[in-house]
Amino acid sequence: MSKILVTGGSGYIGSHTIVALLEAGYEVVSIDDHSRSHDFIMDRIEQITGTEVVNHRINLVDRPALEAFFQREHHGITGVIHFAAFKAVGESSANPLLYFENNLVGQMNLMRCVEQYSIPHFVFSSSCTVYGNPESLPVTEHSPLLEPESPYGRTKVIGEAFLRDWVKVSATRVVALRYFNPVGAHPSALIGEFSRGIPENLLPYITQTAAGIRERLTIYGRDYPTRDGTCVRDYLHVCDVAQAHVAAIRHLGEHADAPSFDVFNLGSGVGQTVLEMVQAFEEVSGAPLAYSFGERRTGDVVAVYADNTKAREQLGWTTQYSLQDMLRTAWAWEQALSQSYNAHP
Ligand code: UD1
Repeated sequence: MSKILVTGGSGYIGSHTIVALLEAGYEVVSIDDHSRSHDFIMDRIEQITGTEVVNHRINLVDRPALEAFFQREHHGITGVIHFAAFKAVGESSANPLLYFENNLVGQMNLMRCVEQYSIPHFVFSSSCTVYGNPESLPVTEHSPLLEPESPYGRTKVIGEAFLRDWVKVSATRVVALRYFNPVGAHPSALIGEFSRGIPENLLPYITQTAAGIRERLTIYGRDYPTRDGTCVRDYLHVCDVAQAHVAAIRHLGEHADAPSFDVFNLGSGVGQTVLEMVQAFEEVSGAPLAYSFGERRTGDVVAVYADNTKAREQLGWTTQYSLQDMLRTAWAWEQALSQSYNAHP
């Protein structure tokens, strides 16, 4: 079986993907500098899968360190899945250069090494943010890429563009996966999303409110042109996102005739409003959630959800987890966090 390098292997989607890769029989090596994650995640992955994964603590911006890693470890690596990037929209607006350097210089350095060692397959973490505020729904991979709403979004648009140009001269073939809103946690509740400080994203904010860490959720805006006035997003379970990466690696291996650069939407295909998420969470947790309405959040798009036909047809990928599964596992993870260690400094 081939060996896959996962960058950002201790992160939210990276750690779930390592589990899925190991369960599919791949060998995995990880790079993660733990700047936004925890070093014990590899132990948790071993608890779930029974397999030890070695993580190399390297920042991708540190080109000499990355080159030294590749020189030592490149043997047998047939694919790279690149997650290591910052993703906080608000932080990116406050500090664009941090995002440009971390996300784009890091990606460039990685591409150089992949090219030097002729690694054939590369999977890139992209985002539905590249569609901006879409004019028509659901969005397909052919929907126009609109002006990104944040510097974070811009790093994804540019990151894709780098790869699109590069494959014209490189031997590497690339799949970019455009995630909609990944939520939930592994059913074991051993791995999940860590929010640093006050969460920006909806689900961690909901679970922290239910756990008593936050007083109440503020729902950003109640006068959007949607069925209940709140924004619409396409939420999908992180384990389904992880499986899509296994499918993408398999696809690259099995279809040498596939385009050298390809993109796939990863969404459930269904849009939920913020209020619907709150109500569904209340049903799953069995308790009312404290919330109030606030102003619209700058940069929020009104509604976005995926046409996932291409991923279904070409990757053979479909979502397996329901909305209730997403909320149940997110809540179980939050409760496990509160019990086991001080995760909300
Ligand atoms: C955003 C980005 C996405 C990025 C993700 C990672 C866009 C369109 N999407 O997702 O690309 O990968 O962040 O951080 O830029 N909400 C509240 N109260 C809260 C938090 C959120 O009402 O306290 C609402 C938001 O207004 C939004 C929905 O919940 O309508 C989801 O928000 P969030 O979880 O932050 O994700 P996105 O903004 O969709």
